[in-house]
Amino acid sequence: MSLRRLHPEQPDSFKFTAANLKWAKAQMKKYPKGRQASAVIPLLWRAQEQESWLSKPAIEAVADMLDMAYIRVLEVATFYFMFQLAPVGNVAHFQVCGTTSCMICGAEDLIGVCKSMIAKNAHQISDNGKFSWEEVECLGACSNAPMVQIGKDFYEDLTAESFREIINAFDRGEVPTPGPQNGRYAAEPLSGLTSLTDMNTGQHSHNASAGLALEYGDTIKRIQGNEVPILKSRTTAAKKKPAKTTG
Ligand code: FES
Repeated sequence: MSLRRLHPEQPDSFKFTAANLKWAKAQMKKYPKGRQASAVIPLLWRAQEQESWLSKPAIEAVADMLDMAYIRVLEVATFYFMFQLAPVGNVAHFQVCGTTSCMICGAEDLIGVCKSMIAKNAHQISDNGKFSWEEVECLGACSNAPMVQIGKDFYEDLTAESFREIINAFDRGEVPTPGPQNGRYAAEPLSGLTSLTDMNTGQHSHNASAGLALEYGDTIKRIQGNEVPILKSRTTAAKKKPAKTTG
């Protein structure tokens, strides 16, 4: 386990955008009076979605909002690996799963791609400032190994070659479609379904996860707070705009 501590260089201050502040206050109301500390993870996550990483001023701002001691929020931020405690690439941060299934299926090749195309060391920003990477533990997509989380979405069934193409696409300003990269719909056998084959009819062009990722379009986007109506579930918001992914 690597040592997780605050970055030596910190900004002077942190402020939620007006819309994100409204969103954060709405989260705090979800909990009984006096239990607002329960909102610590959503608020830290929102701060990271806004800034791309968690600075000391952001951690302290969240602590102030929740009436928590700074050390308590610092404990949360340093415990969970999903929180980035150092600046990341300004386009995308790549989280390469290195756990058993992914390792057996080629994660080491993907890490080699990161080292050659992004930076020699994990958490080091590429020379052009666009990218950074790290190795992470199992992200729960083992049946689509090897996989990489890029921003908010999963890119699965990767090879060194397809991963290189994805990085090049991000470099050109594109956002490649998340999900399996080898033609699989979801986690079925590569040779096709052997049971429940009626699932082959009426399929959408992408599985639900990849389809929603395409619809939201926020794979690597900073969240300012006004993208999805506050206090409405993302699913409800998505229903208002028909998916373009129907096959
Ligand atoms: S081992 Fe990589 S997602 Fe589980």
